[in-house]
Amino acid sequence: MRLNSCHSFHDFRRMAKARLPGPIFDYIDGAADDEVTYRRNTSAFDRCDLVPNVLRGVGDIDLSVTVMGQRLALPVYCSPTALQRLFHHQGERAVAAAAGKYGTMFGVSSLGTVSLEEARRISGGPQVYQFYFHKDRGLNREMMARAKQAGIEVMMLTVDSITGGNRERDKRTGFSIPFRLTLAGMIQFAMKPAWGINYVTHESFKLPQLDGHVDMGGGALSISRYFTEMLDPSLSWDDVAAMVREWGGQFCLKGVMSVEDAKRAVDIGCTGIILSNHGGRQLDGSRTAFDQLAEIVDAVGDRIDVIMDGGVQRGTHVLKALSVGAKAVGLGRYYLFPLAAAGQAGVERALDLMRSEIERDMRLMGCASVDQLTRSNLRFS
Ligand code: LAC
Repeated sequence: MRLNSCHSFHDFRRMAKARLPGPIFDYIDGAADDEVTYRRNTSAFDRCDLVPNVLRGVGDIDLSVTVMGQRLALPVYCSPTALQRLFHHQGERAVAAAAGKYGTMFGVSSLGTVSLEEARRISGGPQVYQFYFHKDRGLNREMMARAKQAGIEVMMLTVDSITGGNRERDKRTGFSIPFRLTLAGMIQFAMKPAWGINYVTHESFKLPQLDGHVDMGGGALSISRYFTEMLDPSLSWDDVAAMVREWGGQFCLKGVMSVEDAKRAVDIGCTGIILSNHGGRQLDGSRTAFDQLAEIVDAVGDRIDVIMDGGVQRGTHVLKALSVGAKAVGLGRYYLFPLAAAGQAGVERALDLMRSEIERDMRLMGCASVDQLTRSNLRFS
C-alpha cells in the first residue's frame, strides 16, 4: 500500500497496520475495557445531520480560527500524544514540521520522545505542552519552567488520567517501555522486521521531558504503571489553580466532561477546556465529547474557549463540532496512523486531506467562514 493511495483515515490506518508490529499498532488503535466509548466517539457524529444552505457566494473560504489567543489557519490541530518515535523514527519532529507547514498548533507530550525545546525550533506555529501532574513536585516545577523558557504558547494539563485506563490489548501483548513482550507480542514484532531494522538504526528511545526521572534501565514502564505510579491522584482544583497562577498565560484542561467542572475551570482562570475522553482510552462507557459539547458551550462558551477531541475522522465531523460551538477540534489517531505509515509526508497528506475536506464541505454548506457555522444548520436524530 502506498501513501498516495491513502484517501481517508481508514486507508492510513490500514497502511499503519501493515507497517507496525502488532503491539505498537494496538497501543495506538486500542482503548479501555470493551472500547465502547472509542467506537461511539466517531458514531456520535452520525446522529447529527447537516442542513446545507445554497447560493451563498462561497468563492473564498476562510478556515482560520482563533483559540486561546492563537490564530490557526485550520480549525483542527494535532493533539499531544505520547511515544511518537516508536511509531515512526521521525516522531514529534514530523508532526511539528507538518503542523507548522499547515499553520496549525500541535502538542508535545510529557511522554514525548523529542524534547519540547527541539520541537519548538522545528515548528513556526503555536505549540502546546501537555502536562501530566506527577507525585514528584520538583519534576512538575522543572517541567513548567522548561516550557516557559522554551516559549510554549499554551499549557495543557490532562486531567482524565489520574490512574491508568484498562487497556486490555496492551496487557495481551505486553506493551511497555522497554519492551517486555509476551510470546505472542514477540512473534508479532518478528513479523515486521523492516520496522525493527528502522528502529535499531535510529537514535535510541528517550523520554526527554522526564529525563532523570524515569529509569529506563529499570523495570518496564507501561502506560498504566506510569499513570498509576508516577501521577498524583490527590491532584485537586486548588493545585491546578496554583499552576494556572504560576504559568500566567494560556492554560487549558484536557479531559473536562461535565458542566460543573467546566464552570470550575472558568473560576480558576483557565482560558480553555478540551472536552475529551482521551480517545476512549481511560473511562470506558463515558459520554462522547461531541455529545457533551452543546450543554458545556451553553454554560460557559462566552467565558472560555471550548474545544473538543475524540473520534474525528472527517471534515464533516469538524463542521458539526464547530457548528455546535467548539472553537477548534483536536486530532489524535487521525494524524498518528499517517505518521506511522509514512512519517512527515504521511502527516502532511492527512492534514492536506482534512483541509480540503473542510473547505469543500464548507462550500457545500454555504458557509464562507467558520463563524457562519451555527446550530441552525444542524438536526439531531
Ligand atoms: C495514552 C497516553 C499516554 O493514552 O496519553 O496512551
